[in-house]
Amino acid sequence: MAETDSSLIAEYRHEPVMVQEVLETLAPSEGDIVCDCTLGGAGHSLELAKRISPSGLLIGIDQDDLALEVAASRIKTAAPEVASLQLKGNFSELDSLLQKAEVPGVDCFLFDLGVSSPQLDIPSRGFSYHENAPLNMRMDPGKQTLNAREVINHYTEADLTRIIRTYGEEKWASRIAHFIVVERENKPIETTFELVDIIKKAIPASARRTGHHPAKKTFQAIRIEVNHEMDALREGLEAAVRWLNPGGRICVISYHSLEDRITKECFKKYSQTCTCPPGLPVCVCGCVPVLKLQEHKPRIPGEDEVERNPRARSAKIRSAIKL
Ligand SMILES: C[S@@+](CC[C@H](N)C(=O)[O-])C[C@H]1O[C@@H](n2cnc3c(N)ncnc32)[C@H](O)[C@@H]1O
Ligand SMILES: [Zn+2]
Repeated sequence: MAETDSSLIAEYRHEPVMVQEVLETLAPSEGDIVCDCTLGGAGHSLELAKRISPSGLLIGIDQDDLALEVAASRIKTAAPEVASLQLKGNFSELDSLLQKAEVPGVDCFLFDLGVSSPQLDIPSRGFSYHENAPLNMRMDPGKQTLNAREVINHYTEADLTRIIRTYGEEKWASRIAHFIVVERENKPIETTFELVDIIKKAIPASARRTGHHPAKKTFQAIRIEVNHEMDALREGLEAAVRWLNPGGRICVISYHSLEDRITKECFKKYSQTCTCPPGLPVCVCGCVPVLKLQEHKPRIPGEDEVERNPRARSAKIRSAIKL
């Protein structure tokens, strides 16, 4: 891994969300093997490292090169006594990443979904509606071929509407998709600010005056599509359930209702007990639970955390234990 520029490390600021709740649900203890599937700036990982030290192993996965470099340097400085591995990749490929780590199983899995604050803030990544940059939004620019420019200029109006509505929960989805399609007939849409202008034109002025930046939901939707975030989550969770040691814990922090639904459904599927009607001599449904939910309702952050860290506003934690 290349030598990290110290100014880069200092600039990579991302306040970890619901740290206390993560520690309570994962309950890491000395000697545990922890896999942080969304390492980011190692905010959570550093706290986990302290608890598994000195004999534990901290595996950190991220698909973002900068995050990995920053995290590796921080872990080396703040938790030098813990064995740690930083692996570049998508958590949808958890099987091959963990095979590379040569571990028999994992005691704690953490998924803290979405993008980190620095990814949003670096203009050239093309994630931000506040900065003008070529439309990009790839979390792993070296590997991914699909980018936001491709989605905006080549998807059909119906697909754009579906994506903006489903992933952005944007009620003006069909108007925004229509305005994009009309605009791109003149010339391709190249930059974040061009897209912002089109979205502003598509949303009626009265609706634009309420709350968030008018482009927030559409940008989120395009980012989720470009990075196939929902498919990656389904695949990552399935693999994590398989790799968990008996008694091991999994904790997912989601920021989007779809992410939360996918997590809830995965945990439900694996925690289901026999559903046969009473009175049958033998079970025919074959439901053998492998997970136990830690709580039925998701945990949400306290008001003080939301005030301190606006990123926490939509956070929800679900967690389960492997039987
Ligand atoms: C919200 S940040 C994590 C922040 C971290 N928990 C901390 O406290 O510093 C999410 C990170 O996960 C990474 N990420 C998102 N989806 C991923 C995926 N499918 N595979 C690997 N990394 C992913 C992003 O690149 C980003 O660095
Ligand atoms: Zn049954």
